[in-house]
Amino acid sequence: MNFVITAGPTREAIDPVRYLSNRSSGKMGYAIAEAALAQGHAVTLISGPVYLTSPRGANFVSAITADAMFDEVHAATRDCDVLVMCAAVADFKPAQIASSKIKKQNAPSSLALVPTRDILSSLPRERNYFVAGFAAETNDLARNAQEKLARKNCDLLIANDVSDATIGFESDENAVTIFFRDGKMREIARISKKNLARELVKIISESAKKF
Ligand code: PMT
Repeated sequence: MNFVITAGPTREAIDPVRYLSNRSSGKMGYAIAEAALAQGHAVTLISGPVYLTSPRGANFVSAITADAMFDEVHAATRDCDVLVMCAAVADFKPAQIASSKIKKQNAPSSLALVPTRDILSSLPRERNYFVAGFAAETNDLARNAQEKLARKNCDLLIANDVSDATIGFESDENAVTIFFRDGKMREIARISKKNLARELVKIISESAKKF
């Protein structure tokens, strides 16, 4: 199968030297890319700025901002079987980008933000590829994840609790609950991201076959 996988954070510029971003290291998305390649799939890895090396054999595409990731996902999904949206895409960006470095003495007391475009919600409702979304939750994981699965029109959604510092962002381990469209769910207890990625690729490719 032809997998498109997003990973890492995005960076939303405030001025030429400052930006808004988040704690995503890219480890989860890169592990999924590596596992998909090992299981014989073709992989396009669309990555935000991270300190990881792209797995050998992946078609690597860099996307620094939410807007760039939006464009690259739309381009890559013209020809794919599975999209895995593991990237922590910024939900907001500064309303304006200053063209030169904002001087300390001129710093505004507040920063105006505007929402970014939601990539998952922008995908065609009728499509010929399978979509696995992620949900990073700090509370009410099941309720929020089920709501996101429907609102973002995913075929499956992988939820992780990012309030726990030992899993989720940056860590080498993760624990997830997978929510399926038919209401079924499956928990995978704390495990290394590499082993979790192997399981996820198997589950996603099996689900995509039935799709
Ligand atoms: O990179 P690591 O350090 O290994 O951490 C892994 C992880 C915690 C980043 C990963 O497991 C994870 O949870 N990724 C999703 C993070 C996220 O943005 O979650 P969310 O609940 O805010 O978004 C829900 C879904 O919408 C995600 O699939 C996201 O990619 C997508 N999204 C978000 C914003 C946006 N503008 N467009 C989107 O499509």
